[in-house]
Amino acid sequence: MAARGEFSSRTAFVLAASGSAIGLGNIWGFPIKVASNGGGAFVFTYIILTFLLAYPILMAELLIGRNAKADTVKSMVKIGGKKSRGLGALTGYWGMLTASLILSFYAIIAGGMLSHASGSVANLVGLPVNWFVNDSMLGTIVFCAAFFVLTIGVVASGVASGIEKWSTRLMPLLILLIIALIVYIATLPGASEGWAIYLQPDFSKITEPSLVLDALGQAFFSLSLGVGTMMVYGSYVSKSENLPKLGATVAGMDIGIAVLAGMLVIPAMYVAQYNGVVIFDDKGQLLQSTDLIFNVMPSLFSSMGGTGIIVSLIFFVLMSIAALTSSISMLEVPVAYASDSLGITRKKSAWLIGLGIFAFSLVIIFNSAALFGLVVNFATEFSEPLIGILFCIFVGWIWQRNALLAELKQGSPDMENTLFWKIWPSYVRFVCPAIVLVLLLRSFL
Ligand code: PHE
Repeated sequence: MAARGEFSSRTAFVLAASGSAIGLGNIWGFPIKVASNGGGAFVFTYIILTFLLAYPILMAELLIGRNAKADTVKSMVKIGGKKSRGLGALTGYWGMLTASLILSFYAIIAGGMLSHASGSVANLVGLPVNWFVNDSMLGTIVFCAAFFVLTIGVVASGVASGIEKWSTRLMPLLILLIIALIVYIATLPGASEGWAIYLQPDFSKITEPSLVLDALGQAFFSLSLGVGTMMVYGSYVSKSENLPKLGATVAGMDIGIAVLAGMLVIPAMYVAQYNGVVIFDDKGQLLQSTDLIFNVMPSLFSSMGGTGIIVSLIFFVLMSIAALTSSISMLEVPVAYASDSLGITRKKSAWLIGLGIFAFSLVIIFNSAALFGLVVNFATEFSEPLIGILFCIFVGWIWQRNALLAELKQGSPDMENTLFWKIWPSYVRFVCPAIVLVLLLRSFL
């Protein structure tokens, strides 16, 4: 069997894992949740929850992966020992299924980003924009397919020459584009109202359970937890790296970009409103999020005249990049399994599995009213938290403490004396599963 892939450096891992974490969830989901949940109060809660709840689970995943240096099924079986191997394998398979389900709907939205990016290019060179940007079924399918080809192409090229190469190129570009757009949008009339909402927290909302639960769900999805993505990426990290530090860097990047995205999208929404675009419905509620991306933003850009075409291009390229570095990490979960456990070559498995998931995306596209919301809810509100709890149980209760410490000591020999080792083990044992259980119960009630 070919040698297993590995990230070539610390920076490569940080950029790839941040690339997975930073996606449509940060750049679109986060600002919208902020705008509908008391502005800065949501940001505050989100940051605290990311560090208190999501980071410990991220660490659990990274460690399980690096310990076995294998796909999610093998990794879970390894720490499960004799008694819990069945449950471990089941958790691994379920994660794979969930990652695939998330990819199946994510690629449809990402295809929309690609279609708008292509529409802006068409506009720039004087081609008819309508061909690219219309709500037709054919357009949705073509751009979803194009997005799958990109995702599969990167994953098929391997860990270092695909995932790492593209993440290290695209992530810096993404950050640059966000900053450029923030600066430009801030100069437009109406932007200051958005900034005020973002920066002046309405702390009276902080006690609302819906705010806290929204922030919790957001933190979970945003750090790509509960599907095995971070486990697989962890399995490509060298044993000489200090994992708790790397994990904290990734969590910090994820928060940082979400906060930056808020500085872009929220002021942009208010500029749109200033230009006469409707962003709130009759009841004063913010419009549906898909309307906001695919109608409000384009109307905003077209109200800006010539510059609007460039701004639109930058915005949708930015969204497409964010989506791509996340989607490759989703596809990597089943592909790692096919190559590690089944011995199928990476190239073959990336194409076979990728096209299989695309086929499921088609089923969703043709039955969108019935399926889209169902798949999103099943994967993100049910599966992700439940698998997250299972990861905590495996690390907190099943993994032998000495073996866990030995794994942590690789790359951080002084681990026993750190604050991390004093707090984290009992934290993943009790606190994380309990809080995530609350999140899970909410989705039933
Ligand atoms: N974290 C990604 C985002 O914010 C989504 C994602 C979920 C990626 C699960 C991988 C696995 O958009």
